[in-house]
Amino acid sequence: MTFSTLVVAAGSGSRAGDGEAKQWRQLAGKAVLRWSVETLLGAGSAPVIVIVAAGMEARAAEVLAGLEGWRVVVGGATRADSVRAGLQALAAGDDEIVLIHDAARPLLPASVVTALVEAVTSGADGALPALPVADTLKRTSDGEMQTVDREGLWRAQTPQAFRVGTLAAAWEAWPDDKIPTDDAAVVEYNGGEVRIIPGDARLMKLTYPEDFAMAEQMIPRQTRVGSGFDVHRWGPGGAVWLCGVEVPHDRTLIGHSDADAGLHALTDAILGALAAGDIGDHFPPSDPQWKGASSDRFLEHAAGLVAARGGRIVHVDVTLICEQPKIKPHREAMRERVAALLALPLDAVSVKATTTEGLGFTGRDEGLAAQAVATIELPA
Ligand code: CTP
Ligand code: MG
Repeated sequence: MTFSTLVVAAGSGSRAGDGEAKQWRQLAGKAVLRWSVETLLGAGSAPVIVIVAAGMEARAAEVLAGLEGWRVVVGGATRADSVRAGLQALAAGDDEIVLIHDAARPLLPASVVTALVEAVTSGADGALPALPVADTLKRTSDGEMQTVDREGLWRAQTPQAFRVGTLAAAWEAWPDDKIPTDDAAVVEYNGGEVRIIPGDARLMKLTYPEDFAMAEQMIPRQTRVGSGFDVHRWGPGGAVWLCGVEVPHDRTLIGHSDADAGLHALTDAILGALAAGDIGDHFPPSDPQWKGASSDRFLEHAAGLVAARGGRIVHVDVTLICEQPKIKPHREAMRERVAALLALPLDAVSVKATTTEGLGFTGRDEGLAAQAVATIELPA
């Protein structure tokens, strides 16, 4: 199955709100453009030609770093101009298949790509995914309302597939003064038979700001649980850091950093859920820059790794194990501090404490132990 794809990404995303154009924004930890380019390369598209606005070539290289088999072409003022720029840059024979896809439709199931290529291989002049219109349609004009029969009406999506020669010939015949809103329109106009294959709700186009949240929810996620454990020895001092709170005490915990065993256990729990090693890998005790460091930084680093993977922390639970100091008077402050560090609601943060009834090193008051569990969600 050989085919190439033009991914149009030269628009300005004016309806999607302030900030960078929508194709460059992050969706679950990955740039919108990268989502469909990865799928297309994985489905065998050779090459994928990404069409961007002038000056955005480097941004494309940045968001597609590490992927092989794509190149960039500068687009035009309208989507149709961008498609034509891509077609000109495409060095493919007339019989070869080309797909044209909106970068603004990041969630592209590989099965749709296969079905499109099959439809054109089996003789259609063009193929597109489309969904039947489910809502009742109304037309209003001059205060009058009419109900439009939805029978035979479809919502067209992309990618759309054609033989290169068919599409080029259709563009030759297309009137100069008209701007098509998709590529099938050009082939239809030239009398081509364009076939519908089943569309997919995930192929929704990111158009308005609220569409991003909807797309995020369509991304399959896995739940992961990590655990962490830490111990520090008591030594001379007048206060101890526990779960980000300084607790007055007649001793302190000894360690390279601030020795906050609660935050260390929690950091390890998050790293464990990511299968990303342990706190020592990320902040080696041999490195002098972490001497006396606030453990807030370790926890924020681990939370940052979850965010960078497009994930989120769902819930954390820390247990402090010691005879002294009494934790209960400080428990709410600890929950609030951890919730603030992780940007979680308070009811997603649990801090508990227990003694070991005088048994073991914690019972003999030689040290304090902490254990933690973190539940996270990651894109599957
Ligand atoms: N597109 C393009 N070149 C243009 C205009 C649009 O390559 N001159 C691309 C967009 O980047 C997008 C796709 O065509 O991937 C669909 O267009 P649309 O959703 O309308 O995106 P924008 O034109 O960027 O957004 P808006 O219309 O809200 O400005
Ligand atoms: Mg547009």
